[in-house]
Amino acid sequence: MRTGSGQADGPSGAGQQAGPAISSPSATTRLVAWHGDLAGWLDRLGWLRTLSDWLTGVLGPVRERHQDNLVLELLHGGRWVGHPLHPALSDLPIGLWAGVMVLDATDRDPAPRRGIDAAGMLSAAGILAAGATALTGLSDWTVSNDQDRRVGLFHGLLNTVALGLQGASLGTRVAGHRGTARALGAASLAVTGAAGYLGGHLVFTKGVMVSRVAWAIEPRRWTRALQEAELPDDSPTAVVAEGRQIMLYRHCGSLYAIDNICSHAGGLLTRGPVADLTVTCPLHGSRFALADGRVSRGPASQPQPVLPTRIRNGWIEVRGSQPAPRRPAKGRTQP
Ligand code: FES
Repeated sequence: MRTGSGQADGPSGAGQQAGPAISSPSATTRLVAWHGDLAGWLDRLGWLRTLSDWLTGVLGPVRERHQDNLVLELLHGGRWVGHPLHPALSDLPIGLWAGVMVLDATDRDPAPRRGIDAAGMLSAAGILAAGATALTGLSDWTVSNDQDRRVGLFHGLLNTVALGLQGASLGTRVAGHRGTARALGAASLAVTGAAGYLGGHLVFTKGVMVSRVAWAIEPRRWTRALQEAELPDDSPTAVVAEGRQIMLYRHCGSLYAIDNICSHAGGLLTRGPVADLTVTCPLHGSRFALADGRVSRGPASQPQPVLPTRIRNGWIEVRGSQPAPRRPAKGRTQP
């Protein structure tokens, strides 16, 4: 069935008249599609693209030089935390600065006060938390993909503005200008909210720092992947079994199979080097043990799924992590 938006975009049919009945669905469409338009608009901003490319050119080589640095890896969250750190830390400044708003809104004392009060303490704590959050965000930004970098950079710029406004709010609060401090604090929280919205877009719409193999369960049954004779020793080989991209590797007679799509951001592991039975992702350098998929270096925080293998009639067969339930024997009913 055609929807109202189709009618509004296409040429009018015979006897159709322009009017509220047609414009209304179009307005509704705009109302629910604005976020996609916003991301597209940001992606087209020339100055943002230039700044993003410049920053990538400056920070990319620095990151590559220090990618074995454990502090840098910890900024991602990585294998120790099992999740990215940035989204968790970002709750702190938002919560603390929202607390400032609540205290300001419920403060009925009109007398000017100098020094730092409870709201000021929350504001200062939020500024410290925002600094740590910015570091983790910058770290994640350096390992994001091209299209996401522009939106990520705008998200970071908004947060920088919010941090500046909050700093000004704290300064004026300490100086005793509480009215100005409240206004600046409210503006800071509003800008933080807008930045947080873009952060949500990156995670929930674009899947930034979300495991790319979270739903990889196929194939449900033993499935032929490659003839055994076609698999060279000590050479990563890409195969596809029921739509799942898998990397096969054979070393000293032992066979390994792991997802070929890197859990971090989708790099193809077969394009990366293998040493000591550990594969390095060619995109951002995450390392995974072939035997159990364990992360031995981030930015990936999730292990790479490992698939069981077997050899039948000259074929290498693989099976996913959730085999299909056994068919009930004839004459028996399933519970
Ligand atoms: S895609 Fe980023 S480390 Fe693999």
